[in-house]
Amino acid sequence: MKYLVLLSAALAHSANAQNVFAHFMAQNSYSYAQSDWTNDMTTAQGIGIDGFALNIAANDYEVDRIVDAYAAAEALNFKLFYSFDMSYTWAQSDMVNIVMNHSSSSANFMWKDTLLVSTYSGETYGEDFWAGFKSALAAEGINITLAPAFTTYRDPSEASTLLSTFPSIDGFFNWWSWPADVDANLTTATDLAYQSAISSRSGPYIMGSLFLPVSPWQFKNLDGAGDWVEYSDTLWNYRWEQAVSDVKPDIVEIVTWNDYGESHYIGDINPNVDLGTQAPLYVDGFVHAAWRDVAQYYISWYKNGVAPTITKDEVVFWYRAWPKAITCSTGTLPRNAAFPEDAVFALAMLKDTATITLAIGSNEVNFTGGPGITMGSVPFPPEDSQIPYIEISRDGTKVVDTHGSMYINQEGCSYYNFNPFVGSVSE
Ligand SMILES: *[C@@H]1O[C@H](CO)[C@@H](O)[C@H](O)[C@H]1NC(C)=O
Ligand SMILES: *[C@@H]1O[C@H](CO)[C@@H](O)[C@H](O)[C@H]1NC(C)=O
Ligand SMILES: *[C@@H]1O[C@H](CO)[C@@H](O)[C@H](O)[C@H]1NC(C)=O
Ligand SMILES: *[C@@H]1O[C@H](CO)[C@@H](O)[C@H](O)[C@H]1NC(C)=O
Repeated sequence: MKYLVLLSAALAHSANAQNVFAHFMAQNSYSYAQSDWTNDMTTAQGIGIDGFALNIAANDYEVDRIVDAYAAAEALNFKLFYSFDMSYTWAQSDMVNIVMNHSSSSANFMWKDTLLVSTYSGETYGEDFWAGFKSALAAEGINITLAPAFTTYRDPSEASTLLSTFPSIDGFFNWWSWPADVDANLTTATDLAYQSAISSRSGPYIMGSLFLPVSPWQFKNLDGAGDWVEYSDTLWNYRWEQAVSDVKPDIVEIVTWNDYGESHYIGDINPNVDLGTQAPLYVDGFVHAAWRDVAQYYISWYKNGVAPTITKDEVVFWYRAWPKAITCSTGTLPRNAAFPEDAVFALAMLKDTATITLAIGSNEVNFTGGPGITMGSVPFPPEDSQIPYIEISRDGTKVVDTHGSMYINQEGCSYYNFNPFVGSVSE
């Protein structure tokens, strides 16, 4: 146990209301056996994640893999709900059949005695489609809470239009957990506007609440013209702070567990998953596992309403392997390439005040932090092929140190890659 949580009766009560899910791309389960689901779910459960939102893109092999997902989840008391990926073409009857197929499973996440159903986008299908989807299920005796991520609703001023355009929605999942093509940190303006609007929703299965997305990163380099990076350098820390201190939603949805192509996975890279031809060029070796340690801390805070007491010093660090201005021989320079800072970022989770040393090449930075979370960074050095050094010391005595296990290079770039390597060191 890294964190010690003292639960009073009152805190335990409030804990029941808070749920954390991770967005899981069922498309990436093609090669999955039930044991792969079990591994992912056990890992997720280990940091306090209650379940997966299953991003299902088509009525194809995914429905068969989801049979295994339900079996694995039932055995672990892990929860599932569907997140229909409406950027694909769906027949309403297929969606109804998919929801019905597992509607009596104990693994379903229930919101106020109804099945929760979410989406990625889907607003262009129109209100009649969604009302029809709900009534077709109701006719089968299945009441759902519909909380879609209609992604064109991002501007805070559109929140009331969302509600008047879609009388059938019960809740809202704000997809947007990255800055919108700007060199600035994300604010909670969208979250709070939609949270306030949706809380006025009344209906038979009132949800009236917002799902808050939290995401560590955003970088995609798959299709040339459409490729991007969003300014995400410290996002994994401040977005969680917004969740626990500012928005305090009923559900937090981590975006994502396994979307490798957009670089926001916090799950392990399963070597059996076929990532296509481009994604492996920026995903292989770029492990994100240590980001889960940060999530575990904030999930505990979110569920219990208080920051957990840290019992073990740890630094989680991340960095890209090439500076943003380098010319690479293949791939495309992503949109917003100028935004990220060329630096090694370190998030210290300390049980008490300590000094963190970050060194790389001829650059060295010391910062003091703790107890709790403190962030620091050191700029990329001018020297080629350098590896960062990270040390925790207290009262002049080294507690623990390590080196990153990926080099930062100033030359030899074969593919534009803004996905960070994530490592950690702990006592
Ligand atoms: C329903 O579940 C069965 C196994 O119980 C599976 O073979 C089938 O593909 C599933 N169909 C849908 C539409 O989910
Ligand atoms: C679904 O909701 C309706 C309307 O509130 C209610 O009458 C019905 O009993 C519910 N059905 C189930 C299976 O919960
Ligand atoms: C974003 O927030 C971090 C602290 O989380 C701060 O260090 C950084 O300067 C901010 N970035 C911008 C562009 O304001
Ligand atoms: C950082 O701290 C170490 C240990 O106290 C010290 O040797 C080093 O000079 C410091 N570096 C900087 C840049 O201040």
